[in-house]
Amino acid sequence: MKFFIDTADLKEIRDAAAMGLIDGVTTNPSLVAKTGRKYLDVVREICEVVDGPISAEVLATDYDGMMAEAHDWAKVHRNVVVKLPLTLDGLRATRTCSNEGIKTNVTLCFSANQALLAAKAGATFISPFVGRLDDISEDGMNLIEDICTIYQNYDFATQVLVASVRHPVHVHRSALLGADVCTIPFKVIEQLAKHPLTDAGLAKFVEDARKIPR
Ligand code: G3P
Repeated sequence: MKFFIDTADLKEIRDAAAMGLIDGVTTNPSLVAKTGRKYLDVVREICEVVDGPISAEVLATDYDGMMAEAHDWAKVHRNVVVKLPLTLDGLRATRTCSNEGIKTNVTLCFSANQALLAAKAGATFISPFVGRLDDISEDGMNLIEDICTIYQNYDFATQVLVASVRHPVHVHRSALLGADVCTIPFKVIEQLAKHPLTDAGLAKFVEDARKIPR
């Protein structure tokens, strides 16, 4: 499973990349707004740090506006993936991008039927938001299972990118289900490495190391 980092914070991206863990980056308008910087500047800088797919979202909601932004994003760097919303206009833009060889990440997916449409439109990635489904008392991971099954049934090339990841169990279950990608906030990447027995074991090794004659 590929690991993307879900952030627009360059320090987090650099730190995670230094650990050799990052295959790509996903951003969205909410994450970029937190930085106080221009979206274009942030994406340009990310492209210098990570050599992998970098998702940059369109801000328009109509087809013509989305396509204008898609063309602009595609010129920024060969690794930029245009993030489009799962709406009828977004699906149309996905099909046009696919025909033009522009990579896409269809975002805000909350149902298997939406994922089916995105695959048929030629999406490179589909982003089902598991945490937000959990928030409304559904099990977001059931959606990942359904999409993985449907895509395998018909050999769709669209990659399942698990998004709105909130905790390590989402990552574990994504890997068991064979999702292609998990996009993970920095805090959850840190949580993945943590285990109390690792900390306790290391403390004991450090203590005993002091007893070894030098
Ligand atoms: O990748 C999408 C993600 O950024 C949304 O996460 O936690 O706002 O639902 P969240």
